[in-house]
Order: sequence, then structure tokens, then C-alpha cells
Amino acid sequence: MNSTCYLNKEYLYKDYDKKLDFEGVEGERLAHRLSKIAEIGLTKEGGANRPGYSEEEREAKNIVRKWMEGLGVTVQEDAAGNIIGKFLGKRSKLPSIMTGSHIDTVPNGGHFDGVLGVLTALEVIESWKKQNYIPDRSIELVIFSDEEGTRFNTGFTGSQAMMGDLNIKEISNLRDKTGLTFKEVIKKNNLSISKFNNAERNKSEIAAFVELHIEQGRQLEKFKQPVGIVSGISGQNIIEFSFFGIAEHAGNTPMDDRQDALVAASEFVQAVEKLPRQVSNSAVATIGQLRPYPNGVNVIPGRVDLSVDIRDIKKTNINELTNLILNKANNISHERNIVVKWEETLNVNPVSIEKEIQEIQALSLQKHQIKPFHIPSGAGHDAMSLGKYLPVSMFFVRCRDGISHNPREWTNLNDCIYGVHILKDFLERFPTRI
Ligand code: HGY
Ligand code: MN
Ligand code: MN
Repeated sequence: MNSTCYLNKEYLYKDYDKKLDFEGVEGERLAHRLSKIAEIGLTKEGGANRPGYSEEEREAKNIVRKWMEGLGVTVQEDAAGNIIGKFLGKRSKLPSIMTGSHIDTVPNGGHFDGVLGVLTALEVIESWKKQNYIPDRSIELVIFSDEEGTRFNTGFTGSQAMMGDLNIKEISNLRDKTGLTFKEVIKKNNLSISKFNNAERNKSEIAAFVELHIEQGRQLEKFKQPVGIVSGISGQNIIEFSFFGIAEHAGNTPMDDRQDALVAASEFVQAVEKLPRQVSNSAVATIGQLRPYPNGVNVIPGRVDLSVDIRDIKKTNINELTNLILNKANNISHERNIVVKWEETLNVNPVSIEKEIQEIQALSLQKHQIKPFHIPSGAGHDAMSLGKYLPVSMFFVRCRDGISHNPREWTNLNDCIYGVHILKDFLERFPTRI
């Protein structure tokens, strides 16, 4: 495997079963495109670094836009930077079927998260062009901006803006770690903060949304399933905490006379790890970011900023776990004479997927001799933003060891192409059922 990139085309293509190239679908073309996008924002560990609204995200969007335009797809960019390619159907006056995903990544992430949903949908359209097939309804292929949200501790920015759910005032002044505000970053993207919410679509123009994504878990691998049907998507809260103590001299301050923000935060971290089990088996809480200040070797930390990512498939569980976490913060604050402030920066509800739609998805799997396998998603997806208003569905593609948000994220090309065939069949079958 090429040391500079965990995703080069030859490595991806070497075990490919060419019998999967039929009905205009080509594995080599998908492998080529995955490897081209993988080169953008490549990290020294061979991962991907394309933060939302970064030059790298922009460069990746532009490449996919060119590929779409090369197929005669009309492409436009909305006020939130979402890229939308429209492939006209026979009954083009009817509401479209939307499909796609995101192309931004977490820091040092993998090369399939989001990208696979965009490029498999593109491969479906390319196969239709090759076969002179015109779908029943128009298909809108979307690249949503800033799905990961790790730059400002938000998330689903483009898809929430498209649904009219983004509180732009709330996020305009959030700062990334370089100190740039969301507003300044938007301006650098030649977008306008005052017009950002013009991205809101008339929902009656969209009949449904379907997203293909890597599973980012181990169920499909455990049950030897190349592709699965998502039964529901967990909701997600993100809360930012700041612990305020007193920065003091490490040498001259007795141990029983300190207000050490990092020790207080550490007690909180240990406690948060235990709380989800009190709520449910599907509840999770993660502290992925923790920054002590002033971060000096001989200074008692006076402040710690940290983030808590809270999830569950049920909204009541998310609320219960959030309250347990906030109570714990309050208790530590009193016991240790530390001021604790917090701010919620994301609150997205869980989304269930209609049984009737899952049944149609099952037909698409069965057509390719894959038994239907239904699986909940602990990970969040743009489908959650649209699922508040529209019928949504998701397909998961197996990923090796379930690893994701990591340069070692991997999905073999055969499974990707099974995903293309199944998404293709679903986009051909579904519209005639609604
Ligand atoms: O965090 C998530 O679940 C997704 O990758 N944004
Ligand atoms: Mn992700
Ligand atoms: Mn994703």
C-alpha cells in the first residue's frame, strides 16, 4: 500500500471482481474517482483533512462538479455552498428524488465517509447515461457542505440550511481553532452570511432523499453482509463546557489550596464515560476535544474547554443523559469551587425510516442476491436534517473492522459496487412506488 495515501487506485482495484461491471457500472471509474478525491487534503498519516468550508472541501466539490457537468448534469451551488446536480427524469415536473452525501471530513479522517455516497450516486448517473436510461423522476445529486461540523463544533450545516433549520445568528460568531469566525469563513468562501438562509428549499420540490454511506461500525462485517438497510438514525447533542479555576504557580501552591480546572475536568471526563450505561444500551457520550489553558508545564491549569457529544436512537434517552451530564458538572463545580459554564452547539433529533421504504430497499438488495439486513445508525448523517420533513432512506456499505474517522477507514471495491447496483435499482424502483 502506497505510504503517502491509504487509498490509491491500484490497491483499491487489485481484488476487484470484474463480473460486477454490468449495466454501465464500472468499478475502475469509481476507484479512480475515490483515489482522486483522496489526494485532496491528504495528511502525512495517509488520511483526509477537508474541514467544512475549507479550500480542500471547495477543491473536492469543484472536481465532482466537473464530473457531473461532463455527464450533461446541470449543476448549481446554493447559498450554503451545497452543490446540486439535476439529472432530468421523464416526469421532470414532479418532485425530484434527492441523493448524495458530504465530502468534508473530520481531522485526519478516512477516504470513504461521505465521499462514497456522492461518488456512488454519480456512478449511477453515469451508468444511466451509458445505457441511455432516463429515470422516472429527476434525480438531484447533492454534496452537502460541512456535514462533520468539527471546525465549529456544529454539524449538518449545508443540509440544515437547505431545510431552513439553521440558526445562522447562533453560529455566525463561533470561532474555529485559528480564531476565524463562521461569518469570516463564509465570506472567504464567497458566500454571504446574510443570504445564507436563501439555501432553504421549497420542500414540495423534493419527494424523498436516499443516502448511501459506509457503516462506520462492525455489524455488516460480523454478519458477512456487503450492504445493509438503515432502520433509524441516532440523534446528536453537542455541548461545549468551560471549567474555570485559578492559574497559579505549580511549585508554590500547596495541593490542598488549589482550584485546578484540569483535575476538575478529569473527574468530569471519568464520570461522563460511566453515565450512558445508566440510560440505555444505545446511549453514548464522547469527549473528543479537551484544551487546558494556559497549557504551561509549571502552571496549574486555570481553564479547560471541552466538548461532549451525546447520542441515542431515542430522543428521551438523549435528554435523560444530557441532564445527568449537566448535573454532574454542577456537582463537581460545587465540590471543587470551580465555575463551570456550558453551551449547546448542536441538537439534532433521531430519525426513523418508514417501514414501507425499507421494504422497497429490501427488494433492491434481493435483486442482487443480498439478503435484507436492517441496522440502526449510531453515526449522524445529512439524512437526519432532511428526515425531519421528508421520507428518507439510507444504505450502509460494509467497512473493514468498522473503523472510521481514521486514515485506516477501508471498504473494498466489490462492496462499493454492490452499493452502486443497489442504489441504482432503488432509484429506478422507488419512484414508481410513490
Ligand atoms: O459524527 C457523526 O456521526 C458524523 O460523522 N457527522
Ligand atoms: Mn463522519
Ligand atoms: Mn459521514
